[in-house]
Amino acid sequence: MSSSPLNPPHILVLHGPNLNLLGLREPAVYGKDTLADVDGQLEQLATDLGMQVACRQSNHEGELIDWLHEARERFDGVLINPGGYTHTSVALRDAIAAIEKPCVEVHLSNVHKREAFRHTSLTAPVCVGSIMGFGLQSYLLGLRALAHLLLPAPAPAPTPPTTGKPRRNSPRTHTS
Ligand code: DQA
Repeated sequence: MSSSPLNPPHILVLHGPNLNLLGLREPAVYGKDTLADVDGQLEQLATDLGMQVACRQSNHEGELIDWLHEARERFDGVLINPGGYTHTSVALRDAIAAIEKPCVEVHLSNVHKREAFRHTSLTAPVCVGSIMGFGLQSYLLGLRALAHLLLPAPAPAPTPPTTGKPRRNSPRTHTS
């Protein structure tokens, strides 16, 4: 799908298990923002960037996989926080690899500062890149990364016409 103002890139945002409890669940680790706050800010940023997002959350591996398959036909890219499935799910990893769309992995917490079992991501190697440790901002940075990949580069600023006269601030040359 090529993008234009009439056909903005459409991003599927997937939140994995337990992220429905954001704001209530371990706020010292995951912050006080709720999932509705995250989705609201993603929708606002998407509008500002000229993109569209569809945000979904599931506690079920198979449902996340079905949605990834849908992305193969209906979306231009995926922003995913696989939650605990990051560290366990070969099936989710295979689904991301299968859809052949750019996928960015995000985490609220810096998983490398936490328990050893969180240091391995099965999903990161099939994503374009990963952003973690910035709370809600991880999602916004992830969406900006997808914008960088999917939106056309802005046209360069026009260069001012040259008059042939030396520029006022150009260094003087001494002839003596
Ligand atoms: C998480 C990190 C995972 O290790 C954990 O299981 C989560 C949330 C994060 O966003 O920091 O559920 O993905």
